[in-house]
Amino acid sequence: GKVAVLMGGRSSEREISLQSGQGVLQALRARGVDAHPFDPAERDLGELRREGFARCFIALHGRYGEDGTVQGALELLGLPYTGAGVQACSIAIDKIMTKRVWLAEGLPTPRHVFLRQGGHAPQKLQEVVQTLGLPLIVKPAREGSSLGLTKVMQAGELAAAVEAAARLDADVLCEQFIDGEEVTCLVLGAGETAQAQATVRIEAPGGNYDYEHKYLSNDTRYHVPSGLPPQEEARLHALAERAYRVIGCRGWGRLDVMIDRATRQPWLLEINTSPGMTSHSLAPMAARATGLDYEDLCLRLLAEATL
Ligand code: DAL
Ligand code: MG
Repeated sequence: GKVAVLMGGRSSEREISLQSGQGVLQALRARGVDAHPFDPAERDLGELRREGFARCFIALHGRYGEDGTVQGALELLGLPYTGAGVQACSIAIDKIMTKRVWLAEGLPTPRHVFLRQGGHAPQKLQEVVQTLGLPLIVKPAREGSSLGLTKVMQAGELAAAVEAAARLDADVLCEQFIDGEEVTCLVLGAGETAQAQATVRIEAPGGNYDYEHKYLSNDTRYHVPSGLPPQEEARLHALAERAYRVIGCRGWGRLDVMIDRATRQPWLLEINTSPGMTSHSLAPMAARATGLDYEDLCLRLLAEATL
């Protein structure tokens, strides 16, 4: 039957989602799937049923797309969709809730202080610096693509960084900065059979893998295979698979991880339940290194679409 590629949407990552969706649409069509674009920002999701769509590929990022809301609507409509379900998405979109689950399971994630609902009184900010040291990272709890993220080098910069993050989400996460190597692990599948794919190691100019170095510039270097020693790669894969399972993901998920330069400890930063599929994105690179090209990856995810 007809497949809707959900793309665009209302989040601040709309432009990225349109690029992901175009890629997915072309890939599915190239493999003979009757796929059509559908932008939930422009049309009512109820039209999916009226127009006879049988399944959805979710290529939305951020809120109202990667956070369980669209997934819930599709459940109500009875339309199978790619990727994680309502609960896993709604945990994973929130970096604070994600950390709570990982910590409860004994998984390593950098030290942090949450500022819920604009709770950033001056003495609270002082406590943030005392607890986390400098530099530290400030980010909105529920954003992607590094939007609203600041690396704070001096205590005097913290208030402005918190304000910048709070413009995107009233809940702000302050996190210890891990100096080391930035890597990402794509995990595919569901439950006990979920499997980590090849690790991608990211080398961005000046260590700033921000919005510009994710999508706009071509001077970020991606290493896949990662070049990490085999035992580090194995440890990373085992960690990524556990981190994915305890959130309850299925289909796919991309774990962003920092490896401490000195101790070689991997620290989990977050999990993305609707990873980018642009020409610069990491998930397709990881899949390709494991033997699944871009089109194979899209077909596999669609085949696993479920309710
Ligand atoms: N949030 C972007 C799309 C990603 O994780 O790839
Ligand atoms: Mg993210």
